[in-house]
Amino acid sequence: MPAAVLVGAQWGDEGKGKATDLLGGDVDYVVRYQGGNNAGHTVVIGDQKYALHLLPTGILSPEVVPVIGNGVVIDPGVLLSEIDGLAARGISAERLLISSNAHLIMPHHKALDKVTERYLGKARIGTTGRGIGPAYGDKIARMGVRVQDLLDPGILAKKIEVALTEKNQVLTKVYNRRGIEPAAVLEEYLAYAERLKPHIADTSLVLSKALDEGKFVLLEGGQGTLLDIDHGTYPFVTSSSPTAGGACAGAGIPPNRLTKIIGILKAYTTRVGSGPFPTELTDEMGEWLRQTGGEYGVTTGRNRRCGWFDAVIARYATRINGVTDYFLTKLDVLSGLESIPVCVAYEVDGVRHDEIPMTQTDFHHAKPIYEELPGWQDDITGAKSFEDLPRNAQAYVRALEEMSGAPISAIGVGPGRDQTLVIRSLV
Ligand code: GDP
Ligand code: IMO
Ligand code: MG
Repeated sequence: MPAAVLVGAQWGDEGKGKATDLLGGDVDYVVRYQGGNNAGHTVVIGDQKYALHLLPTGILSPEVVPVIGNGVVIDPGVLLSEIDGLAARGISAERLLISSNAHLIMPHHKALDKVTERYLGKARIGTTGRGIGPAYGDKIARMGVRVQDLLDPGILAKKIEVALTEKNQVLTKVYNRRGIEPAAVLEEYLAYAERLKPHIADTSLVLSKALDEGKFVLLEGGQGTLLDIDHGTYPFVTSSSPTAGGACAGAGIPPNRLTKIIGILKAYTTRVGSGPFPTELTDEMGEWLRQTGGEYGVTTGRNRRCGWFDAVIARYATRINGVTDYFLTKLDVLSGLESIPVCVAYEVDGVRHDEIPMTQTDFHHAKPIYEELPGWQDDITGAKSFEDLPRNAQAYVRALEEMSGAPISAIGVGPGRDQTLVIRSLV
């Protein structure tokens, strides 16, 4: 039976949480396959608002089994407080499964994330400071601590000892910080182990069996295509592979199980942190988008940078991910504009580029070439079907679909669970 991937098509915060939640009633498993608590996925159900960082959004659908896959980096303290926070609101995480192969974010990862950013000064990436990059760095360097190490106190002690022997040298001698005491870390993580043990599983095996039994698996991406370590705006990216190609590796299921690749696309563009952003608006229009769209980070509270829709980026996301369907979010935010500029290509040193330039140097110099699309004045937050939308809003959606190169199958007209226009079924 099928699996679907839900992937951010821009620089994150496209509305993946809402989209995942929408499909919660139709799927059996929701799996996070990469990233960590750098993510912030918002779901609004009635008058309740949930911000999820590590837990898959499926936690909010009682019939769904939420899974944290092997490709995720887990800060166990954060995970447990997220579980406790939901429990206090009557939502149980009892069903949660955590891959034994997922890596753990350790205290030195967080310390190094913060201090390396400080040392970069103006060249900083603008990370979330959650230890993501250093944790993936240790994973690739083969000195990471994994979830399964929590099950063996002897191994855990050894791994912490080995890691800190090196990292304390770096922290104290390179960055002039205080070293971290291995015994204290061991005690802290052994306490986490007690609580996490019942959730630890061979999730790749669980998911493969589920697929064989005809269950539907939804893979929920964090971040977005342009934040991908390989395909994003390197080095201003995250340290994992949010793109569809990373989904199978991060969940432990084979690529031929995937039947749908759902791209989440905001009707305009936002980005948090540093790095190129051709359609960014630094004037009052950008501020208007920020305020109207509520574009403030869920994880760090930072102002999101805002700009017009960039069709070059969308086309790129279609190609890199093999998007079969788009969920276009936040169309309602654009209501009230006379006309809406959409970037159709770039100009770099007098040359037109219809695709993302090959080098970052050129991309940094890319100037958007805009096409103006007519706006609409009516409030669309109460629309129930595509036909309810004003003609110009329909035309805007059709134009974006044409430029992006994949069908727009659902449209968000508000943050609420019921504020979605479904054109064709996503699963
Ligand atoms: P994610 O990280 O991709 O899950 O996205 P975030 O939750 O960080 O940011 C998306 C924000 O937009 C959240 O506050 C959502 O509640 C909100 N949102 C999602 N879809 C829509 C929509 O169609 N219209 C409006 N107005 N808000 C939306
Ligand atoms: P969701 O899942 C938007 C950005 C950070 C920074 C860069 C690297 O909510 O869409 P990191 O801490 O990952 O090393 O930071 O990536 N970033 C995000 N931006 N949404 C996210 O997640 C992000 N996760 C990381 O702002 O620029
Ligand atoms: Mg977010």
